[in-house]
Amino acid sequence: MNGAPGPGVAAGAVRIFDTTLRDGEQAPGAGLTVAEKLEVARQLAKLKVDVIEAGFPAASEGDFEAVRQIAESTKGIGIAALARCKDGDPQRAIDAIKVSDRPHLHLFIATSDIHLTHKLRTTREAALAEAVKWVKYARERLGRDAEVEFSAEDASRTDHEYLLQVYEAVVGAGASTVNIPDTVGYAIPTEYAALTKRVVDLVGRDATVSVHCHNDLGLATANTLAAVQAGARQVEVTINGLGERAGNASLEEVVMALRTRPGQFESHDIRVQTEQLTAASRLVSYLTGFAVQPNKAIVGANAFAHESGIHQDGVLKNPLTYEIMTPQSVGLLGSSLTIGKLSGRRGLQAKLTQLGHDLTGEALDALYREAIALADIKKELTDADLLALVDKRAATGSAATIELVDWSVESSHGGGSSGRVEVRVNGKEQKAEATGNGPVDALYEAIDLAIEPTLGWRPNLAEYEIRAVSEGEDAQGQVSVKCRRSSDMDAEGKPLPETRIVSGQGLSTNIIDASLVAYITAANKLAAIESGAASAPTKGSREAMQ
Ligand code: KIV
Ligand code: ZN
Repeated sequence: MNGAPGPGVAAGAVRIFDTTLRDGEQAPGAGLTVAEKLEVARQLAKLKVDVIEAGFPAASEGDFEAVRQIAESTKGIGIAALARCKDGDPQRAIDAIKVSDRPHLHLFIATSDIHLTHKLRTTREAALAEAVKWVKYARERLGRDAEVEFSAEDASRTDHEYLLQVYEAVVGAGASTVNIPDTVGYAIPTEYAALTKRVVDLVGRDATVSVHCHNDLGLATANTLAAVQAGARQVEVTINGLGERAGNASLEEVVMALRTRPGQFESHDIRVQTEQLTAASRLVSYLTGFAVQPNKAIVGANAFAHESGIHQDGVLKNPLTYEIMTPQSVGLLGSSLTIGKLSGRRGLQAKLTQLGHDLTGEALDALYREAIALADIKKELTDADLLALVDKRAATGSAATIELVDWSVESSHGGGSSGRVEVRVNGKEQKAEATGNGPVDALYEAIDLAIEPTLGWRPNLAEYEIRAVSEGEDAQGQVSVKCRRSSDMDAEGKPLPETRIVSGQGLSTNIIDASLVAYITAANKLAAIESGAASAPTKGSREAMQ
């Protein structure tokens, strides 16, 4: 081969390539601000994944900035950026990752006839030539130690002989990893394993073979594991299986399968700190507004719950009767310390450590102030209360275009509601009043009236969800909303194609406060996307994929 391979994967190991911040973020409504992406990257670093795919720099200014900042601040972990084999993309991606101590460029081009004919309108020969050209370019610019990965998009529906020809050519041009995306989640484990084995047999001595599975048939984890048994040494996965349509292979499922059943895999060594899985899952769910289904493997609320008497009896006698892994191993700790308003900083810190969060300095002080304020309202804080405060802290930090100053509302049985808000928009105070068929409706309308003259649009509410964080009358309410800009809707109120939807979260013992914070957080994200301070996954990534 002409090029030189990158660092590769140690004997017996499987490289965990997390793409929550790239493929995961492509899920409609999962868009994150730069500050939120940095927060997730910090958690992925604690989890000790091997590679963080931080974004698609050519898709938007915000994504470029997020990748650059993650590359600058994260050491000892590969930082990957996605790029099409198309002039402009690889240059932009390299600019974003060049500050990393482990840059990892991820180039892709579609190879299936259906994509070549209908999407790229090109031939097999031309696609192969572009792939080789950009792999060579990347290897020359990044040098021999960087990772240059090539993905054949829609590999599982590509003619196998042509696909193998492409992989051989890109490895010859300097690719150190070749990826086999099951882009539309079409593959079945036995056939995907057989394809992986052919790729491993052909180029496995010169390059790391990687797999990337989508979950359209619910087989993403099964396909990924079958491919590892066939010799794949890198798995591309996301926290909570987040991703477009039915999502990607879930990191927690793949990782816990490798940990729980090592005897089934010739290569199974991973350095992931599985005790950080629950914290990672909660953070991603909170920031993206994508709830985790209760029966989700590993991180669902019921994953370790035993309801039936027979099961409870068995687990009490010996947990191994019905548990194949311990709740502690994934970061679910039943802990004895309780926190109330007389608790000190040290007690809070110890409790947070038990819950998987190491907070120090100003972050700990800020959380302590919030916890004590909450303990004034509630007698005793539950683990769920504290974890919700940690999640809320993660969501702050992005520059706010809109700030809530004050609100009041009047509402009566059978009558309407009238609300008044005072907000700051770009630092300027604005007041508005409105009526509605409930207190939240009236206040949301008042916010719209207060911000629209300055911004030229109002948030259009697509989803509103409220849930109690813990049990009891004094429980905190967590509100999650999804919004689009009104300017992204047509005259009939339908979203225009490829427009952005974002989520916002609010947490308070007062559900109206929580509702307002959630709405304003979403409005701020829309404003940030407009100004380029956040990635725009639906518009940026999907259009750019063409
Ligand atoms: O699913 C897919 O094909 C992808 C590639 C860009 C790797 O996400
Ligand atoms: Zn994908």
